[in-house]
Amino acid sequence: MPRLSRDMRHPIRLVVNGREMAGDAAPRLLLSDFLRHVLGLTGTHVGCEHGVCGACTVLIDGVPTRSCLVFAVQAAGRKVDTVEGLAGPDGELSPLQLAFQRNHALQCGYCTPGILMSLSAYLRTHPEPDEGALRDMLSGHLCRCTGYTPIIRAALEAARELRKES
Ligand code: FES
Ligand code: FES
Repeated sequence: MPRLSRDMRHPIRLVVNGREMAGDAAPRLLLSDFLRHVLGLTGTHVGCEHGVCGACTVLIDGVPTRSCLVFAVQAAGRKVDTVEGLAGPDGELSPLQLAFQRNHALQCGYCTPGILMSLSAYLRTHPEPDEGALRDMLSGHLCRCTGYTPIIRAALEAARELRKES
């Protein structure tokens, strides 16, 4: 298949994890591939590439979005948050990440970035989540290792920590 010439690519500027970033993207380049291969942010994982597994979830303007279902050009000018932005400036883990660590809420870790991003948005608007609602929310994320129980435990614990902080 012929390679796209450079002039078929679009320059894209966007704000990723609070920093302005830019790169060129072919018209049909997925946002997930743009993040990983153009910007080098490989924390966003790609599983199914069909919007099913949730591994590629990032926040676009604060809304959890499957980056395998969005073209990079559609994210131009938007605010994108990825798992790399959860930790603080000195690498200190967020309360949610710490709760995952304490509760062994990941094993292979493939699903984890997407789940962390969905949960980080969810806990902002649902500071007192119940287990049933969390299970519903997580039904859009496939995890083949943990059985979900430690993920729910970690989410509930993180919600408690965040309530204490606020
Ligand atoms: S890789 Fe995007 S939902 Fe599976
Ligand atoms: S920790 Fe392995 S798929 Fe979720």
